[in-house]
Amino acid sequence: MHFLQDRGFIHPVPSEITPRTAYLSRRQLMQAALAAAGSAALPAWAQPQALAALPGARSSLAGALTMDKLTPLADATSYNNFYEFGTDKADPAAKAHTLKTRPWTVQIEGEVRKPGTWDIDALLKLAPMEERVYRLRCVEGWSMVIPWVGYSLAELIKRVEPTGNAKFVQFVTLADPAQMPGLRGGSLEWPYVEGLRMDEALHPLTLLAFGMYGQVLPNQNGAPVRAVLPWKYGFKSGKSIVRIRFVEKQPKTSWETAIASEYGFYSNVNPKVDHPRWSQATERRIGEDGLFARKRPTLMFNGYEPQVGQLYAGMDLKRFY
Ligand code: MTE
Repeated sequence: MHFLQDRGFIHPVPSEITPRTAYLSRRQLMQAALAAAGSAALPAWAQPQALAALPGARSSLAGALTMDKLTPLADATSYNNFYEFGTDKADPAAKAHTLKTRPWTVQIEGEVRKPGTWDIDALLKLAPMEERVYRLRCVEGWSMVIPWVGYSLAELIKRVEPTGNAKFVQFVTLADPAQMPGLRGGSLEWPYVEGLRMDEALHPLTLLAFGMYGQVLPNQNGAPVRAVLPWKYGFKSGKSIVRIRFVEKQPKTSWETAIASEYGFYSNVNPKVDHPRWSQATERRIGEDGLFARKRPTLMFNGYEPQVGQLYAGMDLKRFY
């Protein structure tokens, strides 16, 4: 057992995660029970969510539309990591209804000529919405394929005019104990923070997402705005962002602060660099696993090497993990 494990600090080793088959049958059982009870008897969080439509034009960006089969919406919204609502995969769907996504502002600060506060509804209109179908690979060994709706983070970055000192971007996400029961658990240091090198943040595949499956983001997936970095492990894709800081020095990230030996700053998907406690060579695709489902080989940079490999040319990816 890892020394931090009893503090609930770390990702479970993949074998400790509820097997998808067990998880599914639990969900199916619940659905059957709910159907029998009639939906009027459901607690609010279990009601099918009716979310506002948020369409996006199919992206024409290279690499933005993987042909892999989409993960069913029901899976993408019920098997989540959002520790602010608890560490169990089912916690975010059960508990994130308390997240208030309006009013919402995103603060732009640090090394920019145009710092300030953006209202979420103004941010929504900053650039045309695109639909992008990305693979998202979690460091725990599972992956999903999700049609996101948003625009390149670069659109916002250009608008706020970074100074020459802006070498990195830090994302700060909401930490409000009144809305987020997981903050009391002390599983990580709050707020959840993540960071990117400036050229990574400016890469056109780096998405500022406001929706998925043609609708606004469900709370458990990071409403009202999150980052999506398809070539990095999922934890780099911070949910429910409230602040974007432009800084000169490489910023700390929540997972590095928690366990630097296991989670580095870059966290690029790399089947050849194992996590200290498990292999990263293969993955389970959520929604297609059953007793006999084969694991898929994990791809270098999650399959986005043609688009992003150049960003890391000459770097020792074992050292900068
Ligand atoms: N963002 C915040 N604020 N808090 C979190 O706990 N978990 C990360 C990431 N973003 C997390 C977060 C992890 S570990 C993953 S794998 C993805 O969100 C999961 O995104 P999804 O639930 O939409 O699939």
